[in-house]
Amino acid sequence: MRELLNIALPKGRLGEKVYARFAEAGYPCPLVLENSRKLIFENEEAGVRYFWVKPSDVAIYVERGAADIGVAGKDILLEYAPAVYELADLDVGKCRMAVAAKKGWRDDTERTLRVATKFPNIARSYYAGKSREIELIHLNGSIELAPILGMSDVIVDIVETGTTLKENDLEPIEDIVPISARLIANRVSYQFAQAQLDALRDALVRG
Ligand code: PRP
Repeated sequence: MRELLNIALPKGRLGEKVYARFAEAGYPCPLVLENSRKLIFENEEAGVRYFWVKPSDVAIYVERGAADIGVAGKDILLEYAPAVYELADLDVGKCRMAVAAKKGWRDDTERTLRVATKFPNIARSYYAGKSREIELIHLNGSIELAPILGMSDVIVDIVETGTTLKENDLEPIEDIVPISARLIANRVSYQFAQAQLDALRDALVRG
């Protein structure tokens, strides 16, 4: 029996879209979409084993070799700089990393800027590039609350439709970087199975 290719998919709506791409590209495993609490699925015929992973953890599985390949957002790759190869931009899960503030907020460049974010490295490097001194407030979610409660001046966060900002009386004020889902590979797996992984990448990108 040949070895199965281990694939880490980001759990959730994006993951289902991404799985559909893999299935169309010739790597189906219909059990993946069954509504169960199971996290791991195999299709020996297609040579694949899929696991559902928390989106922000995909790069860890791939970096450590538990998965040969996976799909992770560019936000996670920029924030954690995992030692993996980025094989392709899958052109799904598109959004942007942006700075947002309360409507009508005016910056006072004389003062240290208080920045709340789930992405401290991205925020730090963005403001370092502008030579702006900041105080970083590292939160794990509901970032939008920080400027509303006066805990921060701005947030650095993902904006997709803009609805979350709007519903909390915030507005985007600067774009930092466009984000989309990327196909990533474990470095050792890629060395051993380059032809196989390149073929998979090409089939996914064509799709
Ligand atoms: C992200 C982000 C915003 C929201 C933006 O959170 O932190 O809150 O999506 O999307 P929108 O512009 O379409 O409103 P996510 O849903 O990923 O949840 P999380 O805070 O748990 O990461």
